[in-house]
Amino acid sequence: MRFLLAAISVILAVLLAPTQVQSLDFQFPNFVNSETSQLNLSDNSSIALGAIQVTPDVNGASMVNRSGRVTYRWPFRLWNNKKKKASFNTTFVLNIKNMTASSGEGLAFILTADPAVPDGSEGQWLGIVNPRLNGSIEAKTVAVEFDTRKSFPEDLDDNHIGLDVNSVYSTRSVSLNDRGIYISAAKDIKVVVQYDGKNLTVFVGEDMKNPVLSEPLDLSAYLPEMVYVGFSGSTSDNTQLNCVKSWEFIGAEIKDSKLLWVWILTAVGSVLILLIGIGIAFFLYRKRGYEEDGLEDAYPNIEEAILGCSTAPKKFKFNELSKSTGKFNPKNKLGKGGFGTVYKGILGNKEVAVKRVSKKSTQGKQEFIAEVTTIGNLHHRNLVKLIGWCHERREYLLVYEYLPNGSLDKYIFRDQNSGTQEATLSWGKRLIVISGVAQALDYLHNGCMKRVLHRDIKASNIMLDLDFNAKLGDFGLARTIIQNDQTHHSTKELAGTPGYMAPESILTGRATVETDVYAFGVLILEVACGRKPGGQTERDGYICNIVHGLWELYRTGKILEGADPRLDGIFKTKEMECVLILGLACCHPNPNSRPSMKTVLQVLTGEAPPPEVPAERPVFMWPPTPLSFKEWDNSLVGGQLSPFSELSGR
Ligand SMILES: *[C@@H]1O[C@H](CO)[C@@H](O)[C@H](O)[C@H]1NC(C)=O
Ligand SMILES: *[C@@H]1O[C@H](CO)[C@@H](O)[C@H](O)[C@H]1NC(C)=O
Ligand SMILES: *[C@@H]1O[C@H](CO)[C@@H](O)[C@H](O)[C@H]1NC(C)=O
Ligand SMILES: *[C@@H]1O[C@H](CO)[C@@H](O)[C@H](O)[C@H]1NC(C)=O
Ligand SMILES: *[C@@H]1O[C@H](CO)[C@@H](O)[C@H](O)[C@H]1NC(C)=O
Ligand SMILES: *[C@@H]1O[C@H](CO)[C@@H](O)[C@H](O)[C@H]1NC(C)=O
Ligand SMILES: *[C@@H]1O[C@H](CO)[C@@H](O)[C@H](O)[C@H]1NC(C)=O
Repeated sequence: MRFLLAAISVILAVLLAPTQVQSLDFQFPNFVNSETSQLNLSDNSSIALGAIQVTPDVNGASMVNRSGRVTYRWPFRLWNNKKKKASFNTTFVLNIKNMTASSGEGLAFILTADPAVPDGSEGQWLGIVNPRLNGSIEAKTVAVEFDTRKSFPEDLDDNHIGLDVNSVYSTRSVSLNDRGIYISAAKDIKVVVQYDGKNLTVFVGEDMKNPVLSEPLDLSAYLPEMVYVGFSGSTSDNTQLNCVKSWEFIGAEIKDSKLLWVWILTAVGSVLILLIGIGIAFFLYRKRGYEEDGLEDAYPNIEEAILGCSTAPKKFKFNELSKSTGKFNPKNKLGKGGFGTVYKGILGNKEVAVKRVSKKSTQGKQEFIAEVTTIGNLHHRNLVKLIGWCHERREYLLVYEYLPNGSLDKYIFRDQNSGTQEATLSWGKRLIVISGVAQALDYLHNGCMKRVLHRDIKASNIMLDLDFNAKLGDFGLARTIIQNDQTHHSTKELAGTPGYMAPESILTGRATVETDVYAFGVLILEVACGRKPGGQTERDGYICNIVHGLWELYRTGKILEGADPRLDGIFKTKEMECVLILGLACCHPNPNSRPSMKTVLQVLTGEAPPPEVPAERPVFMWPPTPLSFKEWDNSLVGGQLSPFSELSGR
């Protein structure tokens, strides 16, 4: 019966196919040099200090009379030959600092046919047009300008935004003075630009109720079908730093509207499919009998759940993946986790990692959906990229980017059995790993549209690329939380790995932002100390688990003794101390005393000192059953709490 329903829903989905399908989505919570591959920068532009510098950021002669353009590398379909229009929303944070007594000239968000900055577009032209293109349909550029200098009589003032269509003479401009926003005051200014196909609306600052500008505008009248989106800017003898610190773009593209005969064909085809579908469904239904398991019923429409996401990863055929891994040849096995086995595969000429969820695991399926729907939609350089998935013949497969260096645990824990000295990571590399994970987590907690809790941060879930940059993976336990609904920033489903679980989560059974921070704290302690969170206690002469042991060293003023002996003391004492104290702060028994990931990042970049940590580890207090320390340790590391036993092997 389920198959019949599925067949009908597929047909309905085809018939009622939404007119907006493909989309262009991207998020840059900040900018690093490696991202230049996703951007097209003009010669005068660069990425520096975590931001796009549209015009040069070095003070001096090179700053004067410059123009620059930075666009997203791939174009966006703005309309189609049926004149159906796309819509988009974009949010970015500007920071403009005057470098001369009066600032100059301005920065603009642009939609343009040409990523190249026009010659001679410096000075008053803001990199939007040059004297030849000004006012000409050839310019094919629409801009929202942030003008910081009154450079010609028609210019409103030296602090306004304007809507520019193929010209720097704005069709409409609004001063920001009344709103108390000063563009070139070196402050972060959040800007939201929305286009619904009819009106272009701009919000500046935190006020999302009263747009600064909202103008009816048919972009298709001025711009080609495919446009590049980005920023342009310029300086004159008056100079400024034209920075963009973060940028998010969500665009819904348009699918060609169907011709009548397409509809008729579709309808005829659907009836055929329906008949075949009923046949197959009936056949399978009889064959499968009652072997259904309850869980699959809870997720009758796995495909629907996945495809409902705007930027869903690619769907693969089982045969394709089986072939790529040599029929899941044990020789290609990369590792085994609680929920499945990971194989190395080759797709085309690209190496991938294929995870085959074990058929026995009931949690595997839930994990599968969580994984595809959460990370499938996220893009961040410190997250393992999910390339695709496959659900066929009761098989659940996930395809990831292949990271040749494997997982972090291999590099930081001594292998007790082999006794050989495995390659270890230098302190410098470890710091890069820590800040990579911190950025990934900050992005999950604060940087994306919906807040995501990872719920299973640990060394074996951190993968390393060739340059030992950390990438957070394994989103099997991750859950999305709707950000607007601030009261529900937790999810009530006990999961995780003992040793990384915050004390309160065992009692309340809730995962929160703070429990993720706790696990992160344990992780950075592991990385700095080179030891696992629980076990091996007697051997190392520590009192109990890593947090307690280190806190004891901290109390007695000997925290540096916790550093991994394999580093041979080769590290900056201040940095090591900072990381260890930060780790303890994250592992504070009281969730409210743990720092946020924002603060963690500030500490790691040296913008903020490490948080204050009490010398004596505070007692964990949580009614109704206050446990003694000793009992806590057992419950954290031991197998007493049986629900964890399945997870602990991962
Ligand atoms: C910058 O351009 C202005 C206007 O074209 C010109 O007067 C000035 O001399 C130029 N400055 C430099 C340093 O080239
Ligand atoms: C920088 O911008 C100026 C003004 O548009 C342009 O003349 C110059 O060629 C650019 N410099 C480089 C290196 O592209
Ligand atoms: C842009 O935001 C508006 C208001 O939040 C929303 O209604 C619209 O669907 C969004 N458009 C896109 C393409 O995401
Ligand atoms: C930037 O502008 C402010 C206010 O007009 C001024 O006090 C400051 O000196 C300027 N900065 C530079 C580097 O000239
Ligand atoms: C960047 O823009 C320039 C100028 O239009 C173009 O020639 C070049 O191909 C673009 N580069 C990429 C990687 O798209
Ligand atoms: C630039 O174009 C506008 C029309 O958009 C026109 O009014 C203005 O005079 C032009 N400015 C110059 C300097 O050519
Ligand atoms: C959008 O434009 C239409 C006319 O094209 C106008 O009636 C409507 O009020 C505008 N909406 C906003 C939010 O500005």
